[in-house]
Amino acid sequence: MGKKTGRNKIHRRIFKVSILMAALLLAACGKKEIAQDEPGLLLGFSQIGSESAWRIGNTTDIEEKAAEYGISLMFENANQKQENQIAAIRRFIAYKVDVIAFSPIVEDGWDNVLMEAKNAGIPVILVDRDISTEEEGLTACLIGADFYEEGKKAGEYLIKKADSLGLDEVNIVEIAGTDNSTPMRKRQEGFADAIAGDKRMHVLESIDGDFLKSRGAECMRILLEKYGDKIDVVYSHNDEMTLGALPEIEEAGFVPGKDIIIISIDGGQEAIDVLKSGKINCVVECTPKLGKEVMETALKLKNGERVEAVIHPEEQVFSDEQDLSGLAPRGY
Ligand code: AHR
Repeated sequence: MGKKTGRNKIHRRIFKVSILMAALLLAACGKKEIAQDEPGLLLGFSQIGSESAWRIGNTTDIEEKAAEYGISLMFENANQKQENQIAAIRRFIAYKVDVIAFSPIVEDGWDNVLMEAKNAGIPVILVDRDISTEEEGLTACLIGADFYEEGKKAGEYLIKKADSLGLDEVNIVEIAGTDNSTPMRKRQEGFADAIAGDKRMHVLESIDGDFLKSRGAECMRILLEKYGDKIDVVYSHNDEMTLGALPEIEEAGFVPGKDIIIISIDGGQEAIDVLKSGKINCVVECTPKLGKEVMETALKLKNGERVEAVIHPEEQVFSDEQDLSGLAPRGY
């Protein structure tokens, strides 16, 4: 009897210590406290694929933030195929998730499946990219970068750079992202608008690089064969394509960052390291860290609260004009 009581005391103490440790662990992880009687939230998230360091960083952030907020995540990777995303959304509807979030690979072709989600009463968050539709109320909101601003910042950098180098003619080739995707369309538009008033600027060609490193290399080979030393600037819509293009430029006998001005978008660690080495001149930031906003918005939608129609994160420009030695690790 005495032994049992002693053992019980020890068990109770172990139990208390475990609770304390769990609480400390949760606090350390920054896990949000969910009220005991609050039912959990099930979020279906359809990701485009794994085409870039940006995309992988975005997936990691979504997964980490879901865990932090105590949200159950049904994650599906569409491997760059719209039909896979549509099928994933249909599965989320059949599974009766509380909220659907997805990053549409292209802008068109979502009406039918989103109407099904609407009819099922499931709110939809657009993450990263937008859709094009005539229908009202298919989605609750968009959480993602202002791609037009990113393109504009790239153009503004180029004008300053051309001024500082005293260039009187600037021939640009553009390696664009996936056709009919929001970042491709808006980054092109913002850049074109920024350089429109500058007579020195000529876009020789814009070519579809699909946001892929392999395509970036292929596009650069084609452009170098066609335009050779006429090329003054490469404006690439993401780091992956830039990193694919650089070895092609070197192989063709040019020095990237010196003979050819290189402008990229994303700001992943690898591109920042190459910028510091002088082979890239400017990287416009596009942050993949959208998870916090996604989770907070999903919780609001589940509770029937109002949400912002559009949320853009703050983003910066990194360039050869700055001292980047103190820049914190990018995390993607
Ligand atoms: O939609 C964001 C873009 O998609 C990023 O710039 C790119 O790297 C990613 O694949």
